[in-house]
Amino acid sequence: MQPSMLEEIVQNPNPYPIVADMEYPEVWRLCTQARELAWDPAAIDFSDVIRADIPDEVRKAGAEWWSLRAWMEHGATPYGAERLRDAITTHQPFEIKQQITNFISEELRHHEVSFRIAKAIGMNSKGKVADYEPTPRADYFQMIIPKFHDERDEKAMSFFAGLAVNTLFEQLSGELLTARYENARFDSIKEACKLVLRDEARHVQFGRIIMRRFFESLPKEEKVLLGNKVSKKLRGSLLNGVYAVVNLPDEERKRAGRNRALASDYGLGATHPDEEIGILKKALDKVREEVGPYGVPIPHIPELDGPVRAAA
Ligand SMILES: [Fe+2]
Ligand SMILES: [Fe+2]
Repeated sequence: MQPSMLEEIVQNPNPYPIVADMEYPEVWRLCTQARELAWDPAAIDFSDVIRADIPDEVRKAGAEWWSLRAWMEHGATPYGAERLRDAITTHQPFEIKQQITNFISEELRHHEVSFRIAKAIGMNSKGKVADYEPTPRADYFQMIIPKFHDERDEKAMSFFAGLAVNTLFEQLSGELLTARYENARFDSIKEACKLVLRDEARHVQFGRIIMRRFFESLPKEEKVLLGNKVSKKLRGSLLNGVYAVVNLPDEERKRAGRNRALASDYGLGATHPDEEIGILKKALDKVREEVGPYGVPIPHIPELDGPVRAAA
């Protein structure tokens, strides 16, 4: 390694005080649940999917779909890593550090189960017809996925406010995941979706605890900022093929939409593009109801709320 590179390495901050007092017993409860409810993606038997009579074209569509799910889940890990670093350097209580560590390993577990599903869907009894795709085929996706987590947006918010905002997205994606669980016609995929949902429920619970504790005391400007961050992330990346296909470039919207529709028609644990907006709109309204009492406004999102009508 060049000496100049060594100089750039951030030195570890003074680690003391290393806090061992518990401040958030409810968060600790989530940590003990995480231990009790740990599961292993490698232990799920996907042979039902491999044995099934599924046309090659559908297998390709399903492998693409679950590759996207895998990239998405992986996208949560750099976000988590940054938050863990923040929690350590700001000397948060141990249960906060533990919860964030659990979050990272759980998101990585969701990533793993997703690429395992993609691989299984890509196989039929004769061999491989498709595979997990480590890199998105479409250019726009190669741009969108790395932007999914923008540390500048996170750093604009206070630590706990940022954690709470992330939870709002977990809530939205949880609603989509529920629909995918309901869509899954294979025991193995259904089981995987159920276990992912069970982890996500804890992530949402964590955010609710944090919101109750911190949202009341945030200054008004920060509440407005939070609402804007939610809108920006939704419109800028999540509606670009991640949560829904609505903001994709025309051609790609048709191609990706058709593949999602195929995967959902065959019960591979996908959402049909025609139902995604409805699910998200309902979920967003729920989120608005939840953050409304704290005075956090979520701006109008035309893709979900419809165009703004001019005043008569
Ligand atoms: Fe996840
Ligand atoms: Fe999550």
